[in-house]
Amino acid sequence: MASKPWGGRFDAGTDRRVEEFTESISFDRRLFRHDVLGSQAHARMLAHVGLLTQDECNAIVQGLSEIQTEIEAGRFPFVLEREDVHMHIEAALTEKLGDLGRKLHTGRSRNDQVSTDVKLWTRDALDRVDAGLLHLQRAFVASAARHEGIIIPGYTHLQRAQPVLATHYFLAFVEKLERDRSRLADARKRLNMLPLGAAALAGTSIPIDREFTARELGFDGVAANSLDVSSDRDFAIESVFSLTLIAEHLAGWAEEWILWSTQEFGFLALPDAICTGSSIMPQKKNPDVLELIRGRSARVVGSLTTLLVLIKGLPLAYNRDLQEDKLPLFDAFDTVEAVVELAAVVVEGANLRPDRINERLDEGYLDATTLMEHLILQGVPQRTAHEVIGRLVGLCERKGLKRLADLSDADLSEASPKLGPETKDLLGVEKAVAAFKSYGSTAPSEVAKQLDRWKMKLEM
Ligand code: ARG
Repeated sequence: MASKPWGGRFDAGTDRRVEEFTESISFDRRLFRHDVLGSQAHARMLAHVGLLTQDECNAIVQGLSEIQTEIEAGRFPFVLEREDVHMHIEAALTEKLGDLGRKLHTGRSRNDQVSTDVKLWTRDALDRVDAGLLHLQRAFVASAARHEGIIIPGYTHLQRAQPVLATHYFLAFVEKLERDRSRLADARKRLNMLPLGAAALAGTSIPIDREFTARELGFDGVAANSLDVSSDRDFAIESVFSLTLIAEHLAGWAEEWILWSTQEFGFLALPDAICTGSSIMPQKKNPDVLELIRGRSARVVGSLTTLLVLIKGLPLAYNRDLQEDKLPLFDAFDTVEAVVELAAVVVEGANLRPDRINERLDEGYLDATTLMEHLILQGVPQRTAHEVIGRLVGLCERKGLKRLADLSDADLSEASPKLGPETKDLLGVEKAVAAFKSYGSTAPSEVAKQLDRWKMKLEM
């Protein structure tokens, strides 16, 4: 049995059931690269302050690199007795270097070590998700450009509301993803303070140089309160919250495209490569990727909830509960990385079907608001104009007319003397879209500017 690092104080070994219950090696082995990185920086710092000779430091750095290679090659033995990734790597180093290996843990604790490792891992993972989001943004922008000139119905309450340009629609997601990216950047900024040197909870009497370690590991500074460090998992929670919002944005998008690819909508053609069939119904083609993107958001919300409940009511400083942070953290990142990657595959492969969209584009009185605004611009109070056009829509429905343009000149002028025969020139979705003016609207000139802005910003 491998002896425990705390063996000096104990007379008896650990109950096997306790070892099984308390281990984290089954899941925290994923941190091995970052554990090696953190330990190498720590060794360099110990040499820098004269607690290791340069030769000792070199031997430790080299030994840690060898261990990393062994783990990567699948040649490293993981055993339950060594509890977690930190104890495994330190024990392996001691097997290699003897007493020198036993010096590495000078001036540090597993509490600040694990926090450092998880921060380094999370920092890399945040960068990977950001790269995935950039790729997805570019896919949406490319789709926005590919579908230029197409008008689609815009919805509120999933009821037809006003006409919008398809380009405008695609760019809406680029905006959401941009906020998601800025949230990741924000989380990264607050995360990027070095925990190492806080030791167990109170710091250390060893004259370490935390600024040195921070520079070695690319942290922007040093966390200022050891008690805070030992108990802090804000960075994990903030990161997972940011992932949750990404997952929710994409779940809403997936829901919409599932609807759009139905027979009933028929707005969207999904390529075979991203659909699956049915084992019993030969005609079926199902949007499973979109459904799973929608479904997997549940896991991310679950991870966020787990983390929030995990820290609820924890007193300072480190508590073993915190070991449980890794499973939801890893799962949230794994899930969102995959979701973002597959979302880009869908966006790249899917195309609108203007034929099907146009068949019914003049249904739903999408131009009613534009006609109301025409009256307002002629001095009619908004509330009055709203009533006038509302009555005209009612009249259309009673007469069985699908479009406001189908009303007679007499119907229009009876509703308001300001609705002369020239009113007809303002009707129809194309005219309605062309009438928009405000910044951020679906006006063709505004949308073209936005498309250009995104192409420039995303270097496309
Ligand atoms: N495996 C532990 C974790 O992940 C490492 C820290 C253990 N610290 C301790 N005082 N037992 O949180």
